Amino acid sequence: PPRTRIKDALAAEREVSELCVKGWVRTVRRSKEVAFLALNDGSCFASIQIVLEPTMAGFEEAARLGTGACVAVAGTLVPSPASGQRWEVKAARVEILGDADEEYPLQKKRHSLEYLRTIAHLRPRSNTFGAVFRVRSALSFAIHNFFRERGFLYVHTPIITANDCEGAGEMFRVTTLDPLKPPVKEAKVDWAEDFFGEKAGLTVSGQLQGELFATAFADIYTFGPTFRAENSHTSRHASEFWMIEPEMAFCDLAGDCALAEDFLRYLVTFALNECGEDLAFFDERVEKGLLAKLEALATARFERISYSEAVERLQSSGQSFEFPVEWGCDLQSEHERYLTEKVVGGPVFVTDYPAAIKAFYMRLNDDGKTVAAMDLLVPRVGEIIGGSQREDRHDVLLQRMAACKIVPESLPWYLDIRRWGSCPHAGFGLGFERLIMYLTGMENIRDVIPFPRTPGNAKF
Ligand code: 4AD
Ligand code: MG
Repeated sequence: PPRTRIKDALAAEREVSELCVKGWVRTVRRSKEVAFLALNDGSCFASIQIVLEPTMAGFEEAARLGTGACVAVAGTLVPSPASGQRWEVKAARVEILGDADEEYPLQKKRHSLEYLRTIAHLRPRSNTFGAVFRVRSALSFAIHNFFRERGFLYVHTPIITANDCEGAGEMFRVTTLDPLKPPVKEAKVDWAEDFFGEKAGLTVSGQLQGELFATAFADIYTFGPTFRAENSHTSRHASEFWMIEPEMAFCDLAGDCALAEDFLRYLVTFALNECGEDLAFFDERVEKGLLAKLEALATARFERISYSEAVERLQSSGQSFEFPVEWGCDLQSEHERYLTEKVVGGPVFVTDYPAAIKAFYMRLNDDGKTVAAMDLLVPRVGEIIGGSQREDRHDVLLQRMAACKIVPESLPWYLDIRRWGSCPHAGFGLGFERLIMYLTGMENIRDVIPFPRTPGNAKF
């Protein structure tokens, strides 16, 4: 018979006289006569119990299988007498596709997440990472669903680009150097300038190109990898991460926050409906109270406070911070945590930051000092969204670019859309890995992306 996914076998309505399951052995247990395999194929959290009886041809071989082996089992799906599972498979034939010896690193004992990072090629076969990557996949689809239901155009922005959207100098260079030849001294070659005609790097954000599309299709979004050569060794920064960036014409900062809030509620609801088994695992083993938190989030309205108000609240808190707070400073993660965990007790939009600490493209407010920016901060993870209303006035944009030392000749196309058919528009970027950290309770960004890229680590 064709392969049945273990998820479907476990959800069967009735006995099945002949079925075939394939997967990887999690445990082998032998009692006096019978042997049991717990078989997992990644389709769901649970493994299915395979019962091997001595009368089966090849019993001895199958009962000696190692943890990690890959097998195909043909047999009958029957009610299980064991507690906690409705069905088990009574094996008629076991075909060993690939045995595993006792050096297989994922033996039954619990492993630390640090150790599992060193075996990123095998960790998807563990309980925790099975759950993480199922949630990650489900949420990717939820993201597309959300925007499709609202008529947003999905646009693929370039990965190689000459533009540093955030202006933070964190672009990786693209080079044409042959890694097998000794390095050439000329910087020109180093930047592949002769190839593209100018210095090019890996994108830090699809926003600038997203804005161009928003002035043609009104509502658009991107969802792709972004790269930052940020030398930060924290649990929240990766050199390669995925970002979702909606951009909306005819939208201001309030509309931008409203979309972000709807979006998060949608994603939380989706995860609760579609990933219940995996989230129950995180609730039990990773973050106590996770499910209750998510249920509250599914209908929550997030608080909004201005940057100035946040600074006042932090100053009057009586808390001593490593970095003292004063108007004009960037909020550090200790401040962000204090705001979400102590002041608000949940997610909060902080808006209207000083222009001097934000990117050139944010719309200058009437006070001439602050910009129409918003960051969504959440407990434990900190900033998960950064967004703004964009500067849509040609003359003001030129002034802001000058203040940020960006020459107009470097972004003629970006300025053009302020000359022809400019309109108020706004958008944001949601860091996909930080979202997953928030929704699963996982504490390190290295544990929510299949193959993390961080300073000193590009293996696998
Ligand atoms: O705040 P950021 O830098 O904003 C932008 O890039 C804007 N262009 C977005 C926009 O308005 N379209 O980044 C947005 C989000 C952050 O809030 C964070 O969640 C995530 O991207 N992020 C990172 N995630 C992991 N590792 C890093 N090094 C990250 N840098 C930013
Ligand atoms: Mg930011």
